[in-house]
Amino acid sequence: MYLPLDGRGPLHGQLVRSLKDAVLGGRLPAGLRYPPSRLLAQQLDLSRNTVLAAYEQLRAEGFMQARVGSGSYVVMPGAPVQPRSEPPQRVPPQSAYARRLRRYHDHGAMPGRGVPGVLHSFQYGVPFTNPLLTSAWARALSHAAAYTPPNYPTAQGLPMLRAAVCEYLSLRRGVQARPEDVIVVTGTQQAVSLTARVLLDEGDEVAIEEPQYFAVREALQIHGARLVPVPVDREGLRTDLLPERPPRLICVTPSHQFPTGALMSLARRRALLDYACRHDCWIFEDDYDGEFRYDAQPHAALCGLDDSRRVIYTGTFSKVLFPSLRLGYIVAPPGLRDDFVSAKWVDDFGSPAIEQAALAHFLADGGFERHLRRTAKTLKQRRDALLGALRRSCGEALDIDDSNAGMHLLVWLRGRSAAQGDAFIALAQRRGLGLYSIAPYYFDPPDRAGLLLGYGALSVAEIEEAARLFAACLAEMDFPE
Ligand SMILES: Cc1ncc(COP(=O)(O)O)c(C=O)c1O
Repeated sequence: MYLPLDGRGPLHGQLVRSLKDAVLGGRLPAGLRYPPSRLLAQQLDLSRNTVLAAYEQLRAEGFMQARVGSGSYVVMPGAPVQPRSEPPQRVPPQSAYARRLRRYHDHGAMPGRGVPGVLHSFQYGVPFTNPLLTSAWARALSHAAAYTPPNYPTAQGLPMLRAAVCEYLSLRRGVQARPEDVIVVTGTQQAVSLTARVLLDEGDEVAIEEPQYFAVREALQIHGARLVPVPVDREGLRTDLLPERPPRLICVTPSHQFPTGALMSLARRRALLDYACRHDCWIFEDDYDGEFRYDAQPHAALCGLDDSRRVIYTGTFSKVLFPSLRLGYIVAPPGLRDDFVSAKWVDDFGSPAIEQAALAHFLADGGFERHLRRTAKTLKQRRDALLGALRRSCGEALDIDDSNAGMHLLVWLRGRSAAQGDAFIALAQRRGLGLYSIAPYYFDPPDRAGLLLGYGALSVAEIEEAARLFAACLAEMDFPE
């Protein structure tokens, strides 16, 4: 209990004033039990007699009432005091940064946020759950907790995790990285905010895919960057439409464009690297789920082609494991590496060491590899189930952008406007189906009804049921011709 003593006169008198202040100010509300005298004496480093004397006086003045066998309770003597005025719930933004926070981020309007009360939801970003992973992870964590030293970890990340990440990247993503160039972060979100701090001044231009991942977009806007949207098509970023005035940074998702699913072609990859080299700009590669491809081997990351070291490569364990882990990594070009490590140190001194150690072991002992294989198989079954059910029951009414990858599909209601799409989403919600529009992922949404269907967290049976509901809503929908 916080009870400041004013240093005036005998100690028991100081304690009486402090306790009365707490009662009158509402910090000790009527009916609350006073702490036992021995405990309060220990907490305040006073003698027990001092506390007993103070309690005696509070009782005499009517601030305390003893109940036999259950202690002494706070009483508010006389008329109730004026309630203290509430602190204001909202103040004007206190900085340019806060102004941008309010302008660009709205807690209540996060795209794709789950709608309450629906039976089935195609919400994107809900993790795939796997009981085998849960128990393997619990074992790895308890083992790591037993031997991880309690001092601060190195800000750059545990060496054994950085080494394990390099091995994984070389094997799975075609990226040859050295442990000294890896910085462990809390996910893509921290990677982009460190990138902004290391590379961008307020007002600097950043080219970003249109459409794009809203959280990266917001982080850059809130940092003060000026975003230049560049369209994507089936081959990924339209490199022929990169701005004439070169931006400082270009943000891309080449392995699985978010949210369209496009895989960036080799020609575009080369064109992008060439543009970055010629114009001295940096590339932020967000390789968030490049691991999960179902038609062929996963394609190598853009970073693997980058001989001139323009790419800041970021990977995350949010998709391949689960997002509450909050671990990911940056592979930084050598010339930027120390700035990234310093920025990470300033941000949080380093990511939690026990989780890092557990993850390093999980990667090294084959548990992660087994989990990846199982997950890719299950996700493919779910994707096939969703595609099959949609094609069977409403194929004529849909254009499906099937990327053969990841954990979501982009589906367009053929010939329907964005407003008709919104009406369909509203009807589906009333019938117990959570659907999410593609519009919030655009700066300038097209007038077409697009839906982002996340299926990672739904079983095959749930997917089939949800697809039935989808078809029933579509049949019920009375679209004006
Ligand atoms: C495009 C994209 N990048 C990255 C992430 C993951 O971000 P983080 O690593 O911060 O969890 C997501 C998650 O939904 C995503 O959709």
